[in-house]
Amino acid sequence: MSSTLRDGFRWSEVLAYPAVWFRDNCSCDDCRDPRSQQKYLRVTDLSPELSISNVEEFGDKIVLTFLPDGHRSVFERSWFLSASCSTVGVGRSEQNKVLWSASDLEPTTQHSTWSTYCSDVATRLRMLRGIDQLGFAILHDTPTDELTVLRVARSFGFVRETNYGEYFDVRVEANPSNLAFTGAAISPHTDNPYRDPVPTMQLLHCLGNQVMGGESGLVDGFHAAAILRENHPRLFDVLTRTPVTFAWSDQNNVLIAERPMIELDSLGRICAVRFNNRSMQTMWLDATRLRDFYEAYRCFADILERPDLMVRFRLEAGDCVIFDNTRLLHARTAFVESSSGRRHLQGCYADLDGLSSTVTVLEREFGR
Ligand code: OGA
Ligand code: ZN
Ligand code: ZN
Repeated sequence: MSSTLRDGFRWSEVLAYPAVWFRDNCSCDDCRDPRSQQKYLRVTDLSPELSISNVEEFGDKIVLTFLPDGHRSVFERSWFLSASCSTVGVGRSEQNKVLWSASDLEPTTQHSTWSTYCSDVATRLRMLRGIDQLGFAILHDTPTDELTVLRVARSFGFVRETNYGEYFDVRVEANPSNLAFTGAAISPHTDNPYRDPVPTMQLLHCLGNQVMGGESGLVDGFHAAAILRENHPRLFDVLTRTPVTFAWSDQNNVLIAERPMIELDSLGRICAVRFNNRSMQTMWLDATRLRDFYEAYRCFADILERPDLMVRFRLEAGDCVIFDNTRLLHARTAFVESSSGRRHLQGCYADLDGLSSTVTVLEREFGR
């Protein structure tokens, strides 16, 4: 719906819409199931010659009569004005987000304690809306029990089970199958770009962190991509048009997906970022395209590693960070464990549609 319509409603303006649009949106019991509001009609059920033969105006409603079938439909003015009840999750693109650098964030932005988050709906709404707008939230003083990460995910949505199970442990292992399970630094990345669909949310819950180092960072990948577009439009184009293969396998699983590093939606807006040097596969392109790709890849990586873009924090026992894995990149610095100092995170995946739904339902019950 156009903003002009929302701002200054006039029947004459909407009556310029085609007859098929009105008929397709009829809400009478012959056109929709009254219980579910689902449509019975297919567009092919409607006559290609459909027209409006009569318009009657009764205060806040209009009644339209259609030819050739004589069907009558009622439209309320309020329906035109209501549009969608929430903007959260409507479109995942940059347009609906607040892009940030580290200095844009106050130290308290997007922080809450678990008990306030659970007991106070306004806080919960603020945190969850913030994940939609800024891409992350950090909860403190969550229980330091195993599986708390699943409780946190279930407080707003559904856990996405994968071949790793419902959750995964991140700690130093004797035979690590992933660099995450060592004390090595991990540069900014999105998780699991080798899945299709990719998990759209990730949670990391800290059960203990007594090591030197092991600090966490988050980068707004949409902001980084927008900086690339602004300063190097040609390189931005290369990354939006070049499919990259990401893969991961073990004895029982072979996961592979191909996507550009920067994905645009149907209107050309940034809508997803995939970046993971660990699981990215060899690029097989011709020599010229390889040169262009590596120039663009390096330039984007340089932006992602800019210190002013990364918000840094240390996950302490009981902290849980929740983030949009289609937009934010996460990282950690190296650390060394000792007999007295260990680091243990539990992580899980979830999805943004569940988060958006929860926000919309909370807004409906408790107001915006
Ligand atoms: C991961 C990861 C970061 C950390 O497990 O996906 O990036 O802080 N871990 O250990
Ligand atoms: Zn109808
Ligand atoms: Zn990760």
